[in-house]
Amino acid sequence: MKRIINEMKLRLRAIGENEAVARACISAFIAELDPTVEELCDLRCAISEAVTNSIVHGYKGYSQNIPTFIYISARIYDNREVTVEIADTGCGIEDIDRARTPSFTTGDPGQRCGMGFLVMESFTDSMSVKSKLGRGTTVLLRKNLKPYAEEKTCHKG
Ligand SMILES: Nc1ncnc2c1ncn2[C@@H]1O[C@H](COP(=O)(O)OP(=O)(O)O)[C@@H](O)[C@H]1O
Ligand SMILES: [Mg+2]
Repeated sequence: MKRIINEMKLRLRAIGENEAVARACISAFIAELDPTVEELCDLRCAISEAVTNSIVHGYKGYSQNIPTFIYISARIYDNREVTVEIADTGCGIEDIDRARTPSFTTGDPGQRCGMGFLVMESFTDSMSVKSKLGRGTTVLLRKNLKPYAEEKTCHKG
């Protein structure tokens, strides 16, 4: 059975600046696994989409005067699986299947293209969404990192 070998939790204000902070924190957290550039880019990209969604859609129309937050929890398992959960306590999603349909967006069509969930799905091994109207949304991303590259040995000839 797989075992958790490291965990972290983050609470960030739901502001655009923190998209980069979330990416950087997760990158640092998984650095011990020595991920490939591709694995790192995939995860960073999926995290960006989830965090942006919470800021742009989850808290859309919320008063700027009352701070809103994004909650991120990440875990590393001993089989090199990484999970990242991104949650908000915003407006929630009425119809998750419809929201996950490529090209569906409730955002400004000039700015949003409705591909965020597809990106999260494509760049991870699995992605699940839970949401309750008026309560918020949680996205769970899972990625299995490849086994460590074999140690390079030096052959003296
Ligand atoms: N955290 C969230 N809170 C509320 N609604 C969301 C959230 N994430 C996604 N959605 C809904 O799902 C739709 C599709 O999301 P996505 O695929 O990322 O496309 P886009 O962000 O371009 O609209 C959004 O337009 C929005 O209606
Ligand atoms: Mg999006």
